Amino acid sequence: MGLLQLLAFSFLALCRARVRAQEPEFSYGCAEGSCYPATGDLLIGRAQKLSVTSTCGLHKPEPYCIVSHLQEDKKCFICNSQDPYHETLNPDSHLIENVVTTFAPNRLKIWWQSENGVENVTIQLDLEAEFHFTHLIMTFKTFRPAAMLIERSSDFGKTWGVYRYFAYDCEASFPGISTGPMKKVDDIICDSRYSDIEPSTEGEVIFRALDPAFKIEDPYSPRIQNLLKITNLRIKFVKLHTLGDNLLDSRMEIREKYYYAVYDMVVRGNCFCYGHASECAPVDGFNEEVEGMVHGHCMCRHNTKGLNCELCMDFYHDLPWRPAEGRNSNACKKCNCNEHSISCHFDMAVYLATGNVSGGVCDDCQHNTMGRNCEQCKPFYYQHPERDIRDPNFCERCTCDPAGSQNEGICDSYTDFSTGLIAGQCRCKLNVEGEHCDVCKEGFYDLSSEDPFGCKCSLCLQSSGNNSWRESL
Ligand SMILES: *[C@@H]1O[C@H](CO)[C@@H](O)[C@H](O)[C@H]1NC(C)=O
Ligand SMILES: *[C@@H]1O[C@H](CO)[C@@H](O)[C@H](O)[C@H]1NC(C)=O
Ligand SMILES: *[C@@H]1O[C@H](CO)[C@@H](O)[C@H](O)[C@H]1NC(C)=O
Repeated sequence: MGLLQLLAFSFLALCRARVRAQEPEFSYGCAEGSCYPATGDLLIGRAQKLSVTSTCGLHKPEPYCIVSHLQEDKKCFICNSQDPYHETLNPDSHLIENVVTTFAPNRLKIWWQSENGVENVTIQLDLEAEFHFTHLIMTFKTFRPAAMLIERSSDFGKTWGVYRYFAYDCEASFPGISTGPMKKVDDIICDSRYSDIEPSTEGEVIFRALDPAFKIEDPYSPRIQNLLKITNLRIKFVKLHTLGDNLLDSRMEIREKYYYAVYDMVVRGNCFCYGHASECAPVDGFNEEVEGMVHGHCMCRHNTKGLNCELCMDFYHDLPWRPAEGRNSNACKKCNCNEHSISCHFDMAVYLATGNVSGGVCDDCQHNTMGRNCEQCKPFYYQHPERDIRDPNFCERCTCDPAGSQNEGICDSYTDFSTGLIAGQCRCKLNVEGEHCDVCKEGFYDLSSEDPFGCKCSLCLQSSGNNSWRESL
């Protein structure tokens, strides 16, 4: 590594360290509350996920020239990106993958470069999961763009929104867009800080998703979290600095001086786990093992699951799913089904009715149980007084004769002395008796399920139409 490179490299490291130090530190460790995976450069290991609409020398070698803004001297070179890996790395190839940081000691020797004179160029990063984006740093080899914008999608490219506009002359390039200062953390403004013609090389464009000028009260509010969530990032260059030349002038010696060129690009972020994970693994089918790569599949804690811990684990639906906040892990809670079910769901109405204590409702209670916790016996069953509620034989079948019992033979399902209920007790029809309600009382006969009194009276006057024993006396 040459001294100059070493210096440049240390300077870059210093800048990065400075940026990193300003990142908020809210992690408590998963055991104590919210926890977050380490941030890193999302581009590492994702060169193939980076695309661009213009690259010089893709189809044939193309000349290009370097000018300083003083235009005192001009040096010309050839861009040839047709065969990037011929034997060794081809130094004349300027594919977009060159912007990904490699830590190889050739930082200022490789870069991406667009075709000459093309003003509208889009660089796009497509991620394989939701990521939490903190900031973007681009280091340009040529003048920074006179106008550009950064856009993001958090639904895999279905919809896009602008993060920020950048322009030398905001009013001219993006009429109607406020030039700030920002009033709200998600205001969309046009920034002129990073579009100057100086420096003519190694100028940076820095964008932070959360502007450090704002003191964020609650970094976990859905509004802030949504602001930082990305699945795709797009940088659109829309205007070249042309030092007074007109690009409509088709002369080669004019056009070959103006193009975009980027040494490196860092997209800092981490995998998006809503405070429920401190580590991430590769997403299935995306197993590139690259040193320093930020993976997208959260290793979920707090009884959550999903690529981004956006769901409660099966059978942990007693509370609504929530992101972790500070010292509250807001862990998903196991349903209580008393071992009579292995499945449950969350019911908001039940949750609210319990004063936000428990909203889990067991599905498909087994062992003749029912109720939202499978804590009751089904009709025609009663709670065995000596068995544990979790015993598979907790509910015993009633032994009532349906012909002689009220309610087709449903017995008292549990014991409650205050209301006179005795678990398993059969309730006989008027003229029926016996533990199982299967015997006509004395003076009655013909036990029948049709008979509302169970049995007929032997001595009653048929004409009265009333077969109560006492009535006939
Ligand atoms: C570049 O894009 C802008 C905005 O979409 C459009 O107005 C302009 O005409 C385009 N320029 C060229 C050269 O295509
Ligand atoms: C209960 O939860 C609901 C929904 O999350 C919330 O709107 C309400 O304020 C909570 N009530 C109490 C008493 O915490
Ligand atoms: C039979 O007599 C009882 C007791 O007086 C009375 O409550 C009942 O309504 C009578 N039933 C019929 C069918 O008349």
